[in-house]
Amino acid sequence: MDRQHQPITNQPTTTANSPHLDVLILAAGLGTRMRSRTAKVLHHLGGRPLIAHVCRVAAALMKESRPVFVIVGHQAEEVRAAVRAELGESGAVFITQTEQRGTGDAVMVARDLLQDADSTLLVLSGDVPLVRAETLVALIQQHRSHRGHGAACTLLSVRLDDPIGYGRVVRDAENRFERIVEQKDATPEERQINEINAGIYCFETGALFSALERVQPANAQGEYYLTDVPGILRADGAAVSVFLHTDAREVSGINTRVELAEFERLLRHRTLRRLMLDSGVTIVDPSHTYVSPEAKIGNDTVIHPGVHIEGGTIIGEGCEIRPGTRISNSRLGSGVQIKDHCVIVDSDIADHCTIGPFAHLRMNARLEEGAAIGNFVEMKKSKLGRKSKAMHLTYLGDATIGDGTNIGAGTITCNYDGKDKHATIIEDEVRIGSDTMLVAPVRVGARSVTGAGSVVKQDVPPDTLVAGVPAQIKRQLNVEQTPSAVVDVPATEQVQLEIEAAPVGTE
Ligand code: UD1
Ligand code: CA
Repeated sequence: MDRQHQPITNQPTTTANSPHLDVLILAAGLGTRMRSRTAKVLHHLGGRPLIAHVCRVAAALMKESRPVFVIVGHQAEEVRAAVRAELGESGAVFITQTEQRGTGDAVMVARDLLQDADSTLLVLSGDVPLVRAETLVALIQQHRSHRGHGAACTLLSVRLDDPIGYGRVVRDAENRFERIVEQKDATPEERQINEINAGIYCFETGALFSALERVQPANAQGEYYLTDVPGILRADGAAVSVFLHTDAREVSGINTRVELAEFERLLRHRTLRRLMLDSGVTIVDPSHTYVSPEAKIGNDTVIHPGVHIEGGTIIGEGCEIRPGTRISNSRLGSGVQIKDHCVIVDSDIADHCTIGPFAHLRMNARLEEGAAIGNFVEMKKSKLGRKSKAMHLTYLGDATIGDGTNIGAGTITCNYDGKDKHATIIEDEVRIGSDTMLVAPVRVGARSVTGAGSVVKQDVPPDTLVAGVPAQIKRQLNVEQTPSAVVDVPATEQVQLEIEAAPVGTE
């Protein structure tokens, strides 16, 4: 549901004695040139939708004290969700443009909410994701200080070697702004102009809407162009200023997937440079390493090629991440070794753990200090205690495993009965024999042992050997001989008790 516009009394964030600042983001278009069923502003850059990048910059300007206005249309529900994910529930006011009749029409649908506000309106495009807050602050300052009185409109322009596709800034004989002409409406001479309209503007809100009323769709695309407004204001004799920016990349929009890929590369290299120069991370091959701009990585950690680090992942110092691994929204302590081709999602790994190769940790898998996970082990919603190990071909789901426990090869927690998921608890210093099936809900007491091939359906008391199908108690284990401290279980050790050899239990 669209939110109601609350009357807002906050002070402006930029210059004193100027009207307050509102931000309007245009995000209703489909983005035909993307050739996608997904609205352009929902396509991802650096792991986040384009619109999220623009929202973050807007929030930085507003210091989160005022909501941002967002025009939605195509996939409005998804766009709203993406905006809320960035700005929070109350951070944005959404206005729906039911039919996409051009950028002028998009602004027009916000008229009722905005026209009476004595504000400066900063208009941003949802498809210009890399614009920096500093640049916008400079734009707003120029707008407010233009010739000592401020301008009715200030538009952001930039010179491009290849201006094809953009609106061009037409200047008069005195080099003053005259109007913007769109690519499709431009004469061959106008197409030679390389100064383009970036689609980022400051308007005095009242002047904007009075000019917008006069915009007609009499152009090659039959659309209401917002870009007609500065020309109309200029013709009215109002002050229109142009903020000529020098960094073309920063303010150019994304219109095609080719541009999206170029931006991705740019953003990636920025992130990797920062990690190498500021954080002291070794990136073995920066052209084949993918790290989210949000990720934090500690000193002297080494990242090998083909590694993807996504979301807000935090990695400590002195870790090594071997080739082909993906780590998403996870936390790794220091001195962690991740061997080749692991997938680690939403998980938490303490210091000095070892994982992989070919391990899969997901949904809050937690490894405590010095724990080890080996090849072809999957862990879901499970905790592995200090110095515990599961080195080969194992599934641990909904399991809580204590300290110093060894999980033998091929162990499965049978956590699903076809209807519900159940928990497995394995206490400290347990040895689970190879190919044990733990039919949950089930608990294995401290220092107990399961024989190879056991199917454990009932709780095993502490200090007990069980074996067989279904597993039966074979004997009590000598408690005296069991070390009480956390034992460092050798990684390769498998408990391979022969069922026949196991002492007869208590049948
Ligand atoms: C626009 C400018 C052009 C400028 C370029 C810079 C116009 C007419 N042209 O062109 O001068 O050089 O940006 O990137 O403004 N949108 C809506 N509703 C609509 C149409 C568009 O919300 O009915 C939104 C889009 O979702 C997008 C933004 O407005 O976020 C810009 O629209 P787009 O179609 O990309 O405009 P361009 O053709 O790039
Ligand atoms: Ca565009």
